[in-house]
Amino acid sequence: MSAQAHHADWLDFVRTLEPASVDFLYADPPFNTGKRRASPPGAADAGRTADASYADSWPDTDAWLAWLEERLAATIPAIKPTGLICLHVDWRTCHRARVLLEDHLLSPDHFVNHLVWTYGLGGSSPRRFARKHDDLLLYAIDPALYWFEPPMVPATSNRMRGELKKATDVLDIPAINNMANERTGYPTQKPLALLDLLVRACCPPGGTVLDPCCGSGTALVAAVMGGRSAVGCDATEHAVEVAHGRLAEVGRTGPTGAPRVP
Ligand SMILES: C[S@@+](CC[C@H](N)C(=O)[O-])C[C@H]1O[C@@H](n2cnc3c(N)ncnc32)[C@H](O)[C@@H]1O
Repeated sequence: MSAQAHHADWLDFVRTLEPASVDFLYADPPFNTGKRRASPPGAADAGRTADASYADSWPDTDAWLAWLEERLAATIPAIKPTGLICLHVDWRTCHRARVLLEDHLLSPDHFVNHLVWTYGLGGSSPRRFARKHDDLLLYAIDPALYWFEPPMVPATSNRMRGELKKATDVLDIPAINNMANERTGYPTQKPLALLDLLVRACCPPGGTVLDPCCGSGTALVAAVMGGRSAVGCDATEHAVEVAHGRLAEVGRTGPTGAPRVP
């Protein structure tokens, strides 16, 4: 399986792709937090990337949406009719992103799931309920044709203990902890277990995953580990260096040992 990570803007990069060549688009863009996202403190002491950062600030949500719309519109022609789109956002923009996808780029018929990734860490406040999930919006290019393999996860009820059941739209997967081997030091890195589940569910074996904001390369690594091809880009050079390092490591170990949802 081939895997490539390029240093490029999402928009420029997708314009180089062949039409209908991608099976699964996973896009995890900046969330418009208004901050610069940087490697966590202590990363250097742990031997990880310590000085990576990227801008995550637009003048307002309209500006962020316009940025996203241009890029998604340019990407859709590269996805196969059997393909799926997963847009990873959070409470700041989820509602606007759904309107963008359903009223501007596609239509409500293309909606497949609104996945909730609940991760446990952070987000608490004395003034509101703790914010402990991200929103992953899943859309089909063609609602009649898309490929999907329901992921199986361990059942939790007493009745089904020890058995597997189909995953629901709430994905309870811990954020990467500070001691985890997979932690690279790149800011906002997502867990391999989350991307492993998404890739296996949304991209057929041997198919191609596209991640146009690849960061540390988590989706690309999950794709290769799961026997899919991977192509991605990131506007931050440091991200692409980290992604290349991780892909080289998978190249040495081979497409085995993909982490499963706990
Ligand atoms: C939320 S992070 C992705 C994290 C990634 N999923 C991971 O697991 O490491 C968003 C990424 O989008 C990148 N980015 C921001 N603007 C971009 C653009 N115009 N084109 C491509 N990448 C961009 C940032 O550099 C950052 O690495």
